[in-house]
Amino acid sequence: MKPAQITKDVYDVGVNDWNIRDFHGYSVDFGTSYNAFLIVDKKIALIDTVKAEFADQLIENISEIIDPKKIDYVISNHTEMDHSGGLPRVMHKVGEDKPLYCSKMGQKNLSRHFRQKWHYHPVENGEELSLGNKTLTFLETRMLHWPDSMFTYLKEDKILFSSDAFGQHYAGTEKFDDAIGHIIMPHAKKYFANILLLYAPLILKLVEHIANLKLEFNMICPDHGMLWRKDPGKIINAYIEWSSQKAKNKAIVIYDTMWHSTEKMADAIIAGLVEQGVEARPYHLRKWNRSDIMTQVLEAKGIIVGSPTLNNGLFPTVSDFLTYMKGLKPKNKIGAAFGSYGWSGESVNLIKNELESTNIEIVDPGVRFQYVPDNDCIQACIEMGKRIGKLINENTSC
Ligand code: FEO
Repeated sequence: MKPAQITKDVYDVGVNDWNIRDFHGYSVDFGTSYNAFLIVDKKIALIDTVKAEFADQLIENISEIIDPKKIDYVISNHTEMDHSGGLPRVMHKVGEDKPLYCSKMGQKNLSRHFRQKWHYHPVENGEELSLGNKTLTFLETRMLHWPDSMFTYLKEDKILFSSDAFGQHYAGTEKFDDAIGHIIMPHAKKYFANILLLYAPLILKLVEHIANLKLEFNMICPDHGMLWRKDPGKIINAYIEWSSQKAKNKAIVIYDTMWHSTEKMADAIIAGLVEQGVEARPYHLRKWNRSDIMTQVLEAKGIIVGSPTLNNGLFPTVSDFLTYMKGLKPKNKIGAAFGSYGWSGESVNLIKNELESTNIEIVDPGVRFQYVPDNDCIQACIEMGKRIGKLINENTSC
């Protein structure tokens, strides 16, 4: 990816990672990008770097615009290695004596990642840095999504460099939201559901804080995916909506199966839900990546989970998903469990325990059945789907 001029003096010098498909367990079917920004004024600043393996490409991109040695300030909005892995190469090229701006936690975290005696300049929230004609303001965004995270705002151009926030894992030849159109929104939603959902309450506070500061945005530039310039308000409003976690009239049935028994039960539960007019769909855990299912969790009211009993426990993919979902702390959900078993049959209770510890209210005793479901079992699963469907209708109709 060649550097792209995004305004008169601002360039995206980042790179596309076309071939990545697994981003620490999150499926990135369209790759991703690591965006990094060069601001050329009387003084020159670089905001963020890229994954270590792309550092040379970043330096080449910078070199097409200026000699990297001319960079006066390096700014790290976030320590995670997809944005800081290139720092050692960049600092070596730019000059190890150049100031490295970051949050206080950024200094701590970068030191522990790289163990280099760089010239850190830890910033205060709201601190400004003049580049001559342009001014950068640093805004602390602790825990969005790491303790070190911060935004950098370019006052004169009204550009927010938002680190991971408002990003999408998508590699494309397009650079802006207006070039790619609405197809980018599902990627932004998946990103939110898998990276930021846990911090939804903080996001609502941050949006309020930014509104109080009366900051205006001509452009929001995240570190992944498309840059928002046509309507930056669109992604802010989407974040407000997703953070509010208002559930839709929708249920998802997440399961794994060994000999199709638990699968038959899942299908019958779906039939009961649909009979009540609830949007419902099954998700087989070895056919869907956990991150795609998590995107569905974001807006679903009903989370119904099924597992066979394997060696007195849960099927491993079910444990995996329940652990993943618990970490992201979805809110305003109701749930239930089901599953087929051979002789001991612990899975249903184990699922219920996990759902309860995720603060998902168990609203149905569920269905537990030995070996292959018979007609009575299938009918019991349909009835279970109908009961939960009714509750979803009551809970989401107001
Ligand atoms: Fe894109 Fe938190 O790193």
